[in-house]
Amino acid sequence: MGPITNRYTDLVDIEHPIVQEGLGPFRTSKLAAAVSEAGGLGTVSMPGFPQDLAAGARTFREHIEECASMTGRHFAVNIPIGVDANGDVLPFTDAYLDAVLDARRADEGLARQLNVLTTSAGFPGRYVRRVRDEGLIHQHKVGSTRQAVKAQEAGVDVVIAAGYEMGGHAPAKAVHTFVLTPSVTEAVDVPVLLTGGARDGRTLAAALCLGAEGVAMGTRFVASAENSDWHPAYRQAILDAAEGDDVAFDGVYGPCRGLRNAASAKLSEAHGDPVELTRWKIESMRRAQTEGDVDGGLVLAGQVAGAITDLVSVRELVPGMAEEAAQVLRKLSPR
Ligand SMILES: Cc1cc2nc3c(=O)[nH]c(=O)nc-3n(C[C@H](O)[C@H](O)[C@H](O)COP(=O)(O)O)c2cc1C
Repeated sequence: MGPITNRYTDLVDIEHPIVQEGLGPFRTSKLAAAVSEAGGLGTVSMPGFPQDLAAGARTFREHIEECASMTGRHFAVNIPIGVDANGDVLPFTDAYLDAVLDARRADEGLARQLNVLTTSAGFPGRYVRRVRDEGLIHQHKVGSTRQAVKAQEAGVDVVIAAGYEMGGHAPAKAVHTFVLTPSVTEAVDVPVLLTGGARDGRTLAAALCLGAEGVAMGTRFVASAENSDWHPAYRQAILDAAEGDDVAFDGVYGPCRGLRNAASAKLSEAHGDPVELTRWKIESMRRAQTEGDVDGGLVLAGQVAGAITDLVSVRELVPGMAEEAAQVLRKLSPR
């Protein structure tokens, strides 16, 4: 049993309330397995917005099976609920959900391990029943208190409160973690995780003080030794980033936070066919992550990148964070 246990660790059956959140469209099977092995909860990310849905679903399933082969512990998957301009759900969401359910049905051991599904972006209502009937714990990421209440009413088991300083696609409203999290924890009864800006035991302790039951991190885990599927230049760009080097630009769906570079500057001046532009954004993210083109490609990262200076080992980070948070809380509590 870890030094911080609560409703969340009990529900998900993990040692430490520390989650590596979805980092699509990139491969995170090794990273997810490492986080779960360290006592947290790793997440297999969705592999992108493919034109060939069947091929995308196959890749997703391969990543899930790869993660399951590297850990005996629980892990999660993330599926954003993408919507088009008319508010209709994009077909990749259902294709990816089918891939998850097929993988679980084909392998009882994998089904026991893969016990959490995290949805993000659009409203999760139409998926809640299906996720629950499959015996999965349903987490949903929100960017406002109103969305948190709606997600709870729809029946999700856990709400992830995402502050505007987060890496990747950020909420439409620029509400930051410190303001959003206590509002969400007051408004809902289900366990809440804080995401956006967490990086160490102190920030985990702060999240607990705000009423959350854990943290879900992205950027901190990107800059880790176990994230070996990513180009080293991407991880180095996070280590090199200084305070203020992040910027929110127009992403694939809504605002998206990354590092300020030639690609983000080009984007701020870009005009022309929106479909072409979206293709360029996705392609340039891929170039940064797989080829290390961290100036000409979009480097998704949170504001916390400016405060991250060391490449950590997940094996040490996760238990170390829980221990540090427990120490901070002990120091603060009256004798
Ligand atoms: C490179 C990168 C890719 C991301 N991709 C996704 C994604 O596919 N789905 C999602 O829900 N969130 C995505 N996010 C957001 C993270 O899951 C997480 O909520 C966020 O990184 C938290 O903020 P932090 O970076 O300050 O820890 C991404 C973030 C980053 C940095």
